[in-house]
Order: sequence, then structure tokens, then C-alpha cells
Amino acid sequence: MRIVVPGRVETHILSGMTERMHFEHNIVGGDFTRAGYASSQVKKALKTLDVDMAIIKRTVVATYEAEVNVVAHACNGMMIVDIDGSTIQVVIQDEGPGIEDVEQAMVEGFSTASSEVREMGFGAGMGLSNMKKNADSLHIESEPGKGTKVEILMALDGREEVRSKK
Ligand SMILES: Nc1ncnc2c1ncn2[C@@H]1O[C@H](COP(=O)(O)OP(=O)(O)OP(=O)(O)O)[C@@H](O)[C@H]1O
Ligand SMILES: [Mg+2]
Repeated sequence: MRIVVPGRVETHILSGMTERMHFEHNIVGGDFTRAGYASSQVKKALKTLDVDMAIIKRTVVATYEAEVNVVAHACNGMMIVDIDGSTIQVVIQDEGPGIEDVEQAMVEGFSTASSEVREMGFGAGMGLSNMKKNADSLHIESEPGKGTKVEILMALDGREEVRSKK
């Protein structure tokens, strides 16, 4: 996994209103004091790009759930964000234990959260279904013993277009 300095931001003005932005943040497994930081940076970036508030909200709900899952269930991870004129792509990948059965993990209420994680208010088993509801497209790849990769796609110019790419 590449090690990237947190908060590296590149912005290129492509033409007129179209901007392309790429940034990456490390996510530290087990560190709840920083949980949500990467997602808050996504929110900031989308605000500077004047993205519709409803799209920002759905994006941040989905990325926050994925980020907290790395903190709660996995080891080191990374959030990689690419925004262009039509799409927001967020990839959250980790080197954690992976998910044995993704379909089962998607079921509302399913959770393997530890008692420590539950004591902090997480572990209702609602994160993945919340991601599914809010993302225009959600793709999860996981290899037990190796890690998990979650891809969230959001359409900036209408939800239907990205949905139809599924
Ligand atoms: N990145 C990950 N690495 C390993 N396991 C994961 C990961 N993300 C999710 N899981 C597994 O999928 C289950 C369901 O995840 P989900 O986010 O829906 O619920 P939760 O994290 O347990 O609780 P909540 O999100 O409601 O606080 C988790 O309990 C865990 O077993
Ligand atoms: Mg969760």
C-alpha cells in the first residue's frame, strides 16, 4: 500500500467550470479520535467546488460509514478521492481482516463489532446498508485475511447516469 502524506490536495482547472481534484488520506485502524476526518475533508472539497448540498450530504454519509468501518474493523487504510466534472469517485481500502461474506455483511443489523466498539456507540450493523442507500453506486471487494476495497460513485449531473453504469 502506498504511504501518502495526509491532506495532499491537487486541483487543476480544466476548463471554465470544470475542475478535477484528487486527494488521499490515511485512515488509522482503531483510532476513533480521527474517525471521520477524511470524510470531513471530502465535504470541504465538495463545498469549494460548489457541489449541490444534497449530493454532498449523501456522499459524506457514505464515505463516513466506510471510514468508520476501517477504524472499527480493520487496520491501516486509505481514502482516495477523485472528482471531475461529472463524477465523484471515493475508494476506501484497508489491510484489515476482510469480509467473509459481503452479502451477509450488507444485511441490516449484521455486525461483528467488538464490545469496545459497541461501547463507543457503533456496531448496529447499519453502516453498509446506509452506504448503499446514499451512494449512487457501491462496489465492495474483499479478500479474507487481506483486506477490503469499497468504491463509492456519485453522479454530479444526475443520479441515473451513474446508476445505469452499475
Ligand atoms: N472494512 C472492513 N473490514 C472488515 N470487516 C468489515 C469492514 N467493513 C464492514 N465489515 C464487516 O461488515 C459488518 C457490517 O458492517 P456495517 O458497517 O454494516 O455495520 P457495523 O460497522 O458493524 O455497525 P455500524 O456501522 O452500524 O456502526 C461489520 O460488523 C464487519 O463484520
Ligand atoms: Mg459500520
